Amino acid sequence: MSQDLRSTPAARSSAHAAQFAGANETPSRAHRTAPLTHLCDALDAMFEACVKFPEPSDSTFFARSMRIALAEAAANPDLLTSAQREGSTENYRRHLLAADPHGRYAIAALVWLPHQASPVHAHHTWCGYAVLDGTLSETVFEWNGAQHCASATRTQARNAGAVSFVRGGKGGIHRLGNCSDAPAVSLHIYGVAGAQIATHVNDIVRAADAPALV
Ligand SMILES: [Fe+2]
Repeated sequence: MSQDLRSTPAARSSAHAAQFAGANETPSRAHRTAPLTHLCDALDAMFEACVKFPEPSDSTFFARSMRIALAEAAANPDLLTSAQREGSTENYRRHLLAADPHGRYAIAALVWLPHQASPVHAHHTWCGYAVLDGTLSETVFEWNGAQHCASATRTQARNAGAVSFVRGGKGGIHRLGNCSDAPAVSLHIYGVAGAQIATHVNDIVRAADAPALV
């Protein structure tokens, strides 16, 4: 396994810039796969069940339901088309899969070729992800408000089927990357409208020591 996951500041900046460069147009409902339609239906039902909450993602029901929906979607090999599994040699690539017409969520597939990684980031909104193919490495950071930087606490392998959900804010800082020699694909759901996915999700933070993912 390589340790080269673009951990320098310049590379992190480049990685962030490239994250959204490969975004596709949002496919229409008619072009969704059946499993993706099922996932959207599950998300719609979740929001309708939480309609009385000022912020649905604050509820334990929402977090639990999101993990279940992600796991179910990740277990279906027909969730993505072959085009939605295509990567980019420039950096990890995002394919926007669906956007809620009410602006409550957007769904994307991220394709990670070997040794590609995200920058260290918190989130402006809630987000959940599941690993569909391959193995990702995730380093988790904690925020030091006094020093205004993040410090790594642990790194763990995230194999196919792994699911995560975090609320917005500096309590969920992490970096994802692919340390393996094979491509990896992950499914991400964010609490933003489709048009905001490039600007209102990742909150890039300074890391005191951002070790290469292992
Ligand atoms: Fe993230």
